[in-house]
Amino acid sequence: MDGMRLSVIGCGYLGAVHAASMASLGHEVVGIDVDAAKIEKLSDGRAPFFEPGFDELLAAQLEAGRLSFTTDMAAAASAEVHFLAVGTPQRPDGEGADLRYVDAAFEALLPHLRRGALVVGKSTVPVGTAARLDAVLQEQAPQAQLAWNPEFLREGFAVEDTLRPDRLVYGVRPGDDGQRATAMLDEVYASAIADGIPRLVMDFATAELVKVSANAFLATKISFINAMAEVAEVTGADVTKLADAIGYDARIGRRFLNAGVGFGGGCLPKDIRAFSARAEELGVGQSVAFLREVDRINLRRRDRVVELALEAFDGDVTGRRIAVLGLAFKPDSDDVRDSPALDIARRLVRLGADVVATDPEAIETARRVHPELHYEPDLDAALSGAELVVVVTEWKRYRELDPAETALEVARPWIIDGRNCLDPVRWREAGWSYRGLGRP
Ligand code: UGA
Repeated sequence: MDGMRLSVIGCGYLGAVHAASMASLGHEVVGIDVDAAKIEKLSDGRAPFFEPGFDELLAAQLEAGRLSFTTDMAAAASAEVHFLAVGTPQRPDGEGADLRYVDAAFEALLPHLRRGALVVGKSTVPVGTAARLDAVLQEQAPQAQLAWNPEFLREGFAVEDTLRPDRLVYGVRPGDDGQRATAMLDEVYASAIADGIPRLVMDFATAELVKVSANAFLATKISFINAMAEVAEVTGADVTKLADAIGYDARIGRRFLNAGVGFGGGCLPKDIRAFSARAEELGVGQSVAFLREVDRINLRRRDRVVELALEAFDGDVTGRRIAVLGLAFKPDSDDVRDSPALDIARRLVRLGADVVATDPEAIETARRVHPELHYEPDLDAALSGAELVVVVTEWKRYRELDPAETALEVARPWIIDGRNCLDPVRWREAGWSYRGLGRP
């Protein structure tokens, strides 16, 4: 089968990975973004973010000549399928999603749509957005049509999730148009479909809701276990054992039941807030009122770590040396958007502590938003002289720290395990004062 001609508009995390992944399937792909610096990097084969496996994929596809990047929207004109993959951050003035990038990309694309072209939304949007954009398309570019094809990729597994997703979801128009859109998307994803990956076709609103409800469910699952951690803290129970035990029930499942400092990143936090805001607009705010509580539980876990740090110094951290291990919102990522780790480091600084923050990949991204923090790329140097170690991102190298050796590096063997990723028995045996979240 010959590849198709695709454009991907928006070359951030989602778009850049999507563009390179689609090229690897044999399609001819042009990635378009308004950010010239990003386009230059991508064209040179340099990833603008840390993602395992992405650099190799990018280089191979550029080399094969199937992938190119540009700031010129006119380059989209020859494509049959256009993926909209721009960001939908939280609005600066509220909790809803900021759709200005989606709207701008969509409008810029309109004059370049050829007959039979398919515009495919991948961005996470408030329910109702696809129908609104489709109405514009019907009026201003009736030769083309729209589909909504949400993305479920996780940072750290982005390439794998794009090429082998758990499922494909297509939101399409009713009738013949929808069938045609479905056939085109089936051609784009032919190899995944041939591998038996489930593909579900539905209306626009359902497709949009699938995405936000999946993230809302995941956030709820994490806050559920973190709520149990709060109860465990006052009862002497161990939330990690509780999670293992309930996780064996196949209806519950162990994944996403890791209690700790909670969820961060560019998706879960802003998506649940945008969902609440949209539901309120639609008059069904009560139906998802629990998401406000999910958000509150999540934020309380950061308070708890700060509280434990204060306890470690009898209530006053002023001038005390604290090593913060981790800045990224999760391991295998350099993303610090809404990162619990970075938030905790900053709060300790505000309380007067002498914080040294380290991370294997996220120091540069953290420095861009918070240049005032003291960063130390070398783990040993960060640990040296610390009176308290706080682990807030469970990178493999932190999980594998040797408690006895680490004890020799610090000034005082006190540790707060904000991700419950260390073995309390081993650390205590090596002389450490160990505190986890929701475990004795
Ligand atoms: C999330 C979803 O998992 C993806 O399916 C979705 O496509 C993506 O958002 C998106 O909307 O684009 P991601 O933000 O990459 O993906 O990160 P997750 O792996 O979901 O982790 C989110 C946060 O939850 C991290 O801070 C992680 O540390 C935390 N977490 C995760 C826990 O605190 N406990 C857990 O058990 C699992």
